[in-house]
Amino acid sequence: MKYAISAATGHFGQIAIRELLKEVSAEDIIAIVRNTDKAKKVLPEGITIRKGDYTDKASLVEALKNVNKLLFISSVPGGEVSREQQHQNVVEAAKEDGVEYVAYTSFAKADDAKSALSADHKATEKMLRESGMKYSFLRNAWYLENETSYLKAGANGEDAEYAAGDGKIGFALEREYAAGAAKVMILDNAKDIYEFAGKPVSYAELGQAVKKVTGKSFEFKSVSDEEYRNGLIKSGFEPAVADVFVGMQDMMRSGELDVESSDLPDVLGHAVTPLNDAIREILSR
Ligand SMILES: NC(=O)c1ccc[n+]([C@@H]2O[C@H](COP(=O)([O-])OP(=O)(O)OC[C@H]3O[C@@H](n4cnc5c(N)ncnc54)[C@H](OP(=O)(O)O)[C@@H]3O)[C@@H](O)[C@H]2O)c1
Repeated sequence: MKYAISAATGHFGQIAIRELLKEVSAEDIIAIVRNTDKAKKVLPEGITIRKGDYTDKASLVEALKNVNKLLFISSVPGGEVSREQQHQNVVEAAKEDGVEYVAYTSFAKADDAKSALSADHKATEKMLRESGMKYSFLRNAWYLENETSYLKAGANGEDAEYAAGDGKIGFALEREYAAGAAKVMILDNAKDIYEFAGKPVSYAELGQAVKKVTGKSFEFKSVSDEEYRNGLIKSGFEPAVADVFVGMQDMMRSGELDVESSDLPDVLGHAVTPLNDAIREILSR
């Protein structure tokens, strides 16, 4: 059985490969990367490295030859070639090469999600459903690492603003989503859909947890979208980037990342790291 991991040089891919190596031998693991020099530096020895760029379908057709199972890590949005097109290249190449199963890192509750960030994931899930290949959608809620600037602000005793209101977010550490992905890859009868998330909390609850961990005084202040946007622009963000962040806060406020599911602990075989410990871990990096 040959296992491939695409976008393998990113944070998620590097962890997923280390976790997969605990389960299968290095000779059965193929890392598909756009930068082979980087891969040689950051990936473990003994695995196979193949060049495959999401913007170049021919390279993917070459890279996915004789692969049985693919962990398809979603690309980064905002490139010259749209993420949807990049993902279409991956799905088409996998199908052409006879890949049997694809586990795809998707978006929380993708069937109902309406945010801009969810659109490419919804489109990719549709492509995979229609491809005829077996699949699992690994719907990763939200990496706690995304909120590192809030955690650091609190740890420095500085206030921070959010516009997500009482919206709850199923934070977990990126390494736990990646470990979950590796576990799913070795299952014989993986489910079609995994809603991977930690216990959902609001920004106010996140702030309480940071206070408990750091012992510092500060406030995470709930503000309107407009106040939040103005604050971002004042601190140096371009208006277009500020708009993207406002969109994410709206996504959180509307509950898109509020996922109650035991899928992640069930797959990992243990509880997800408690929020306080996860905060401590990020702050100690
Ligand atoms: N749920 C969440 O909270 C959340 C948060 C952040 C990201 N994500 C998603 O999860 C994915 C993995 O996260 P991450 O932390 O590993 O991100 P990351 O560290 O930024 O890694 C992104 C990976 O995508 C690769 N990549 C980008 N463009 C590519 C292309 N054209 N062809 C092939 N590979 C390409 C990068 O290659 P290089 O190493 O060569 O740059 C890198 O390996 C992200 O790409 C994003 O879709 C989810």
